[in-house]
Amino acid sequence: MYSEKVMDHFSNPRNMGTIENASGVGTVGNAKCGDIMRMYLDVDDAGIIQDVKFKTFGCGAAVATSSMATELVKGKTVQEALKVTNKAVMEALDGLPPVKVHCSLLAEEAIHAALWDYAKNKGIVIEGLKEPVGDIEELEEDEEI
Ligand code: FES
Repeated sequence: MYSEKVMDHFSNPRNMGTIENASGVGTVGNAKCGDIMRMYLDVDDAGIIQDVKFKTFGCGAAVATSSMATELVKGKTVQEALKVTNKAVMEALDGLPPVKVHCSLLAEEAIHAALWDYAKNKGIVIEGLKEPVGDIEELEEDEEI
């Protein structure tokens, strides 16, 4: 049911933990399944994500998508990180079962929430970044996923 990559990232999650004095922290959840994801970003003065960590209280797919999402944004610019969609995370994991697609959406939103917090702390505007919703259930109702 799960790809080898999903199992790998679930069993050996990359970048799990927290960052003290992070440049940005974002927390999102899904009221329906009760899962919560928190992302920490360390962004340098050039706008490059030097480090990223996550904490996920959720299902195995949520852990795997958080892990992969951190791998995809690490070393990227803020603008590039913004383009890491849940589809990109799923593709990098060789897919997810349809009932688990929302877990990848949680990862995308957690990154956006952390970027939003970073921008707020810095007093800047990241072009194309919308204010994140705390509960991704609201997104699922709008989007066909
Ligand atoms: Fe909700 Fe996976 S079941 S995040």
